[in-house]
Amino acid sequence: MAEEAILGFLDNNTQISDSGQFATDQGLDHNEVVNVIKSLHGFRYVDAEDIKKETWVLTDEGKMYAATGSPEILLFLAIPPEGIPKDELQKKLDPAVYKIGCAQAAKNKWVELGKLVTRKVQQAEDKVKNLLLQIQEGKVVGQDDIKALKARKLIAQQTWKGYSVKKGLNYAPKRKKVATDLTRENLQRGDWKELEFKEYNFSAKGLPIEGGHLHPLLKVRQQLKDIFRQMGFEEMPTNNFVESSFWNFDALFQPQQHPARDSHDTFFLQAPSTTNELPEDYVERVKAVHESGGYGSRGYGYDWKREEADKNLLRTHTTAVSSKMLYLLAQKPFVPKKYFSIDRVFRNEAVDRTHLAEFHQIEGLVCDRGLTLGDLIGVLHDFFSRLGMSKLRFKPAYNPYTEPSMEIFSYHEGFKKWVEVGNSGMFRPEMLLPMGLPEDVRVIAWGLSLERPTMILYGIDNIRDLFGSKIDLGLIKKNPLCRLGI
Ligand code: PHE
Repeated sequence: MAEEAILGFLDNNTQISDSGQFATDQGLDHNEVVNVIKSLHGFRYVDAEDIKKETWVLTDEGKMYAATGSPEILLFLAIPPEGIPKDELQKKLDPAVYKIGCAQAAKNKWVELGKLVTRKVQQAEDKVKNLLLQIQEGKVVGQDDIKALKARKLIAQQTWKGYSVKKGLNYAPKRKKVATDLTRENLQRGDWKELEFKEYNFSAKGLPIEGGHLHPLLKVRQQLKDIFRQMGFEEMPTNNFVESSFWNFDALFQPQQHPARDSHDTFFLQAPSTTNELPEDYVERVKAVHESGGYGSRGYGYDWKREEADKNLLRTHTTAVSSKMLYLLAQKPFVPKKYFSIDRVFRNEAVDRTHLAEFHQIEGLVCDRGLTLGDLIGVLHDFFSRLGMSKLRFKPAYNPYTEPSMEIFSYHEGFKKWVEVGNSGMFRPEMLLPMGLPEDVRVIAWGLSLERPTMILYGIDNIRDLFGSKIDLGLIKKNPLCRLGI
């Protein structure tokens, strides 16, 4: 509406000298006219120049007088021809009206203020009200009157902004619609030749992209997989949560009375409760090494039970997969191997800030002839420094399946202390030799949870904020794309 009016007016006239006047004449809202002028100016349809006018507007008090009359006239009208005692007059009027009215009416010489208040003139004209009404209508009023009204704070100055408008460089009586897309129809009709295209606005903000989001554990897992692969490790198949006690414990030379094999620490399966396939000859050798030793070991000297080994469980560590992989490796002519896995394990534990009944384990192992503890320390330095943990310390530890065993500590620059980051060792001959691996083959291995480094990397101090049913989805949306280095 306003756009047509402005462009149409300029088609027949040289200029719009005052947008305010134009808006009034056309019955348009001045704000709308101003917005259209700004837009047309942007596309150079019009040239516009600012005009500023100082105008007078009524204050709240001024508006009141314009509506009901000035205090002096109200006071004058309250005086009967015979006069009125001062205190009576005061009672008749609003205190402000009485006070201002007395002063102004006396100044105008309309009244005589004594004990008895009387009129000095027959009639009085409410000049103040009339002036205020004129100002309200936008009429011009004399300077002296303005001064007087301003002194009484009945009017205040306001700056009015508008434009004077002329045809611009790209003036046309109608704004051309610019095309934002080249369509199939444009091409078919051939009208694309005449079309004017809207310029790209490269500084416009695009819509935020809402794609999928990876959980921090998945990101750190991917980074770890990359590290293992860069170091020449192959991934072990860990796609079975259910394992037999045999591979999870017995093959690892973990005695059947070991507390970890208690149902308080391990989830056993009710159905199917037992495994039905184990390599029988190997089972015999494992039984023998547990009961009476061999390969230079005295064994544990107890009565090994097959039923115990057959029990199915949710694997308590991924070392269950490592033992099976090493057994398979021993069934063929020996070749050195570097294996890794990152997958879920289960422990029947009380859940707290740092423990869950299921979590993820990272495991690495190197199997080769003549490896030493020095090789283990070296490979751990290599592995952990790729994770951003270059200061390591080792502490002697115990695992039934490794000797020697070492806990791994890393210096945390943020926490300013040594934190435990993993467990490691060299697999025992009691574990490797019954499998059939050559005597000079050594296996160095280490394991750690995926949650621990992820929590350190992402600054999360409660494991339940990272994994499980109570995590905040916002964490997954907002966490950084990549984070390595502690
Ligand atoms: N299986 C051990 C654990 O659950 C980790 C480990 C793996 C230790 C290999 C030594 C060698 O903590």
